[in-house]
Amino acid sequence: MISRKLREEIDADPELGVIYREAQTALESAADPGDIESVRVSFLGRKGRLSALLQGIKDLSPEERRRVGRLGNNLKTWLENSLEKKGDMLRRQELEGTLAGERLDITLPGRYMPFGTRHLLSRIIEEIEDIFIGMGYRVVEGPEVELDYYNFEALNTPDWHPSKSLSDTFYVNVPDGEHSDVLLRTHTSPVQIRVMEKTPPPLYVIAPGKAYRHDVPDATHSPMFHQVEGLAVDEGITLGDLKGTLEHFAKRMFGDDRLVRFRPHFFPFTEPSAEVDVSCNICGGTGCRVCSGTGWLEILGSGMVDPNVFEYVGYDSEAISGFAFGMGVERIALLKYGVPDIRYFFDNDLRLLGQY
Ligand code: PHE
Repeated sequence: MISRKLREEIDADPELGVIYREAQTALESAADPGDIESVRVSFLGRKGRLSALLQGIKDLSPEERRRVGRLGNNLKTWLENSLEKKGDMLRRQELEGTLAGERLDITLPGRYMPFGTRHLLSRIIEEIEDIFIGMGYRVVEGPEVELDYYNFEALNTPDWHPSKSLSDTFYVNVPDGEHSDVLLRTHTSPVQIRVMEKTPPPLYVIAPGKAYRHDVPDATHSPMFHQVEGLAVDEGITLGDLKGTLEHFAKRMFGDDRLVRFRPHFFPFTEPSAEVDVSCNICGGTGCRVCSGTGWLEILGSGMVDPNVFEYVGYDSEAISGFAFGMGVERIALLKYGVPDIRYFFDNDLRLLGQY
């Protein structure tokens, strides 16, 4: 603060008075800490107006020197104090503005993030795996791009077998219409051979994965589909073991009241072979559209491993025996959940996939 008397004296001085009034105006119109600094520099800086005036005092008469010195120094002190006070106020204002502008409203609800779900087929594969792991099986995998040897030859499938034809199998590199020996596996059975080549019996494995066939897509066919292969090799394995295992599987997968039936069939790599049906879970066996009125649904192919196959992998077919099976994952999903068209699984329409 500056006393009224002093202020009047300063005001009355032709030079100090001008500086005083201009400093007041500048202080009043300073709107942020930056302005305060400019005011300080223009009056009190090395070349500031008040500094210049105070430097000039030495050239005045002794009397004037004392008067102007006293008034000038008081004006300087007043200006320093005023700058500090207003500067503090503006800095506080600025901080409050920043804080208000950046305030987070923590009561605002977060943005909704939809949860994904596992694909139905992945979940069915996991369910199948769990059932067999519970019976002591382990899960193995093999390549989708296969050699003819594993997909056909070592599975006792002769060269003339219709499934080898170009219209059924996707061959990789077909030079001039001649089959290359590299193909997309048409089933998961080649994994049987790969595992047996590497592992001595006993063996209890399942092999889930993709398979490819030259099928035109329709409600029940897709050129890419999934299978779960099973293989058990041990001393004294019988057809009874195969039946018991698959019956247990069908009940766990489709429900305790399901019945299982075996129909004789042919596969080159099993003998005897059977297709396995479960009683229709939609109508309970009385016959409906899903089971085409038969009351039964075909879910897999199976059989006792052909001794010829054991020869290919160097197993002693006199000492051991085994069974194998292969099931279609899409087929099981269609039946279990009543999905009307296999293509829905691959269209990736979340409205459908999110339901399961
Ligand atoms: N690989 C056969 C198929 O894709 C299924 C099968 C597997 C049959 C194992 C018997 C034994 O049709």
